[in-house]
Amino acid sequence: MSKLWISGGRRLEGEITVQGAKNSVLPLLAASILAGDEVVLENCPDLADVDSAIDILRLLGAEVKRDKDRIHINPCNAAQSEVPPAYMRRMRSSVIFLGAVLARTGSACMSFPGGCELGPRPIDMHLEALRTLGAQIVEEERNVIRCAGQLKGARVRLRFPSVGATENVMLASCTCDGETIIENAAREPEIEDLAGFLNAIGCRVRGAGSPVILIEGVKKTHGARYRVIADRIVAGTYCCAAAATGGMVTLDGVEPSHLAHLTQALEAAGCSIAVDDDRLHLQMKQRLRAVAPVVTAPYPGFATDLQAPLMAAMTVAQGQTRFIETIFENRFQHADGLRAMGADIVTDGRTAWVNGVGTLHGADTTATDLRGGASLVIAALAAHGESSIGALEHLDRGYAHLEQQLRALGAVCERT
Ligand code: UD1
Repeated sequence: MSKLWISGGRRLEGEITVQGAKNSVLPLLAASILAGDEVVLENCPDLADVDSAIDILRLLGAEVKRDKDRIHINPCNAAQSEVPPAYMRRMRSSVIFLGAVLARTGSACMSFPGGCELGPRPIDMHLEALRTLGAQIVEEERNVIRCAGQLKGARVRLRFPSVGATENVMLASCTCDGETIIENAAREPEIEDLAGFLNAIGCRVRGAGSPVILIEGVKKTHGARYRVIADRIVAGTYCCAAAATGGMVTLDGVEPSHLAHLTQALEAAGCSIAVDDDRLHLQMKQRLRAVAPVVTAPYPGFATDLQAPLMAAMTVAQGQTRFIETIFENRFQHADGLRAMGADIVTDGRTAWVNGVGTLHGADTTATDLRGGASLVIAALAAHGESSIGALEHLDRGYAHLEQQLRALGAVCERT
């Protein structure tokens, strides 16, 4: 099992380009089977989850070629509708293929991953919404879902603005008869990116980024070339790492407005942040200060995916910061690893109190999930001495070329 070794206590300094967004490229890859001709996606990050999505596309019958950060997909022969559990289990977001495959072939048979990473991740809203569009869905043994039916536009009201459920409805409805209205839709930038891509292949989607999305079903689509947006969570992670190490970094290729809640919190903590078009400069000269309670919420609120990275930075701040996690039930698993490095964190249910300590020390830790793993990396960079982070497969799902990026910022790290 590989580990990341970090010799900490050095300020991060330098400039890096931020990768394309994992949470955009995955739905875009699923959406590519709805295109009438070849699709070229640019700015695709080099990640294990992207490889898993490509494997599913090939299994469905699409031709896929990869050329650096570009992925070429020819969906013309994508006629399969069954994805075996072994493929579905490799990443949680494979469920996004459900709506796309159903729309393309009129049926879909997939399983959804069980298990627990951040707490239960049900897909009841996805299924209920697809039923509203006319799908007949049978849940078989061992979490296998069989869907079929001629879909028809409908009014779908989500009880919570779920990112994945919003994406599945958009994918399922954009080529069916009639108009679909999604109420209480997720407003994340990745939803806008999906709408941008769907419109680029000839679909008619309006209102993405607002709570009401209107989708007019179209009969015909075409190919397109489309650039994936920058990964706001990765950008935020490097911001937190720079802040925790008293560093000075420039991030290129980002959309600063997508990070507003995080940058506001880091400014309140004492960081200087300047934005120049798609570049973000962050400088931290003194010790970080604790900030007002951080409450995670659907976009445009504070991203749950940045809770763990910011928590790592706050472990070395002066004062107490409270974190309240409202999206996932079990999203403080990184606290144990941070404590092993000397952090003072008390958790109770969905609240964590972080009492800043002067310094952290190196320790052997294990990533329990993707963003939790990122928080251990940040703490290890700030800690004095050497740390190791195991279970790197979690980090490889979301951070492309992690150690090269960290080294470009002056970190001393190695994967063994
Ligand atoms: C997406 C992101 C993930 C991020 C999350 C919240 C991707 C690939 N992943 O995940 O990084 O942390 O949004 O911003 O884009 N829920 C239900 N029933 C459902 C669906 C969701 O109860 O049918 C609940 C979930 O258990 C969770 C909450 O709704 O508590 C939010 O989930 P959702 O927005 O769907 O997250 P994902 O799309 O899984």
